[in-house]
Amino acid sequence: MSGAQCLDWVSRPATALHGDVVVPGDKSVSHRSMMLSAIAEGTSHIRGFLEGEDTRATAAVLAQLGVRIEAPSSGERIVHGVGLHGLRASNKPLDCGNAGTGMRLLAGLLAGQAFDSTLIGDESLSKRPMRRVTDPLAKMGAQIDTQDGLPPLLVRGGRTLHGIRYELPVASAQVKSALLLAGLYAEGSTEVIEPHPTRDYTERMLQAFGWPIEFSPGHAKLEGGHRLRATDVVVPADFSSAAFFLVAASILPGSVLRLPAVGLNPRRTGLLEALRLMGADIRIENQGESGGEAVGDLVVRHAPLHGIELPEALVPDMIDEFPSLFVAAAVAKGRTVVRGAAELRVKESDRIATMAAGLRALGVRIEETPDGAIIDGGGIGGGTVDSHGDHRIAMSFTVAGLVAQGAVTIRDCANVATSFPGFMELANNCGFALS
Ligand code: S3P
Repeated sequence: MSGAQCLDWVSRPATALHGDVVVPGDKSVSHRSMMLSAIAEGTSHIRGFLEGEDTRATAAVLAQLGVRIEAPSSGERIVHGVGLHGLRASNKPLDCGNAGTGMRLLAGLLAGQAFDSTLIGDESLSKRPMRRVTDPLAKMGAQIDTQDGLPPLLVRGGRTLHGIRYELPVASAQVKSALLLAGLYAEGSTEVIEPHPTRDYTERMLQAFGWPIEFSPGHAKLEGGHRLRATDVVVPADFSSAAFFLVAASILPGSVLRLPAVGLNPRRTGLLEALRLMGADIRIENQGESGGEAVGDLVVRHAPLHGIELPEALVPDMIDEFPSLFVAAAVAKGRTVVRGAAELRVKESDRIATMAAGLRALGVRIEETPDGAIIDGGGIGGGTVDSHGDHRIAMSFTVAGLVAQGAVTIRDCANVATSFPGFMELANNCGFALS
């Protein structure tokens, strides 16, 4: 899919960022809203759906499985749910594109069907570990064949699933969610215990669709044999997309940005705390709730940042934000130390290695460790970096370019469209110099 294209961007030093930046819908919530609407009874209306390649791939998979989905306008979907047992086999592979969330959650959902399915992905997804979901799903009675732990996944249907109590070895909302989705089809109760609490969107949304579920931070439990009732979903703006602008305005003198109605689920906002510890000036205004999720406007002003020892407890709450944190650390005064973040090595790219190589190419002193990095801040030079097709790395280096001593060329940026379509235009509208 998108990985096949190659697209280089250039980010040039800019003066200051100003204005309102409306970032697109949350990726995690969009995936889940599509999956639950598809297997609910009745018609669900989704607003704020992320028009990214990842979430569209999930919608296309569900359409291939017989779900009628209308798209009356951008960000709007009307999903005609087929009920828990209404999906139909597809004789073609189901292409999840670049989306780990799509593939892992669908593995759980499809494990409970009467038919076989094959899940495939792009080059990056084809290298991502799947045993973290297929092993516990096998304990539930599922049979999923992998290629030595990697995609494609052949999910065998017609199996009888039974609930398990599973303690996750690593904090992962994707694994938790895959098990809960399989648990809908299982006999008895499925219980998931996490080493650190992760985003609870699946739990909250199951509840909104009328499925009885007990959950608290780090724990979730449900029983099979209920039904999902269609409901309307409002997707908040994605904190992870807002993150690039929080760092950008923090590091570029004279900047003030407002990011309206961003999702502020506490399991997502670790970067906000990390940046505040570094001295950032970020305020939350108009706090409220939308579609059952906390939202608020984020107002960020430039402030001098200093290095920190990142508290490890923040890691799961900012797991997607390390590429932009590394850029903030490269600009900050002093040293930043990140530990306990080994999961970064199995994201869309090895984010520790990719960021370290890129920052080094821009003259930053950074030392890789197995589970993090030590970054000596002080400034960024111009140069060329490779995003390795990783959307968040590409966008983070556009932020680096704002304050670099020369232009920053970023290789392989096509995958920005997986999570943030329209990024370049939005960025340029508030003062980036991106081409
Ligand atoms: C996600 C969970 C996280 C995150 C990913 C989205 C989700 O992955 O990195 O971008 O929607 O559940 P892990 O579960 O692998 O930590």
